[in-house]
Amino acid sequence: MADVSFKTDIRPLFNQTDIDHMEPFGVALDNYEYMSNLVNADAVYDVLHDKTMPPHAPWPDDKITLFRAWIDGGCKP
Ligand code: HEM
Repeated sequence: MADVSFKTDIRPLFNQTDIDHMEPFGVALDNYEYMSNLVNADAVYDVLHDKTMPPHAPWPDDKITLFRAWIDGGCKP
């Protein structure tokens, strides 16, 4: 997969509800500094991949695969 960018490809995957609900838990889905920390990125990937998040509205596999490709590509901005 070609270069995957947080700003262009990943940030738009999260809607305002996702961002607002996760902010109180310290999960900053719209924050590149937070998300590009590999520990945080992997934790987010895990809940997407096991389909526990977003609750009752799991992502289709193509979005999850894109998120994984972003991590594997080095979490580019
Ligand atoms: C480290 C990753 C994450 C953790 C530990 C986490 C944890 C939680 C917890 C504890 C809740 C509240 C309880 C619940 O409703 O089940 C919650 C709610 C929620 N999370 Fe996450 N979450 C993570 C990532 C995400 C991601 C990646 C998304 C979206 C793509 C997301 C979307 C939501 C939404 C929309 C709610 C509110 C659900 C509702 O009130 O109906 N979360 N999350």
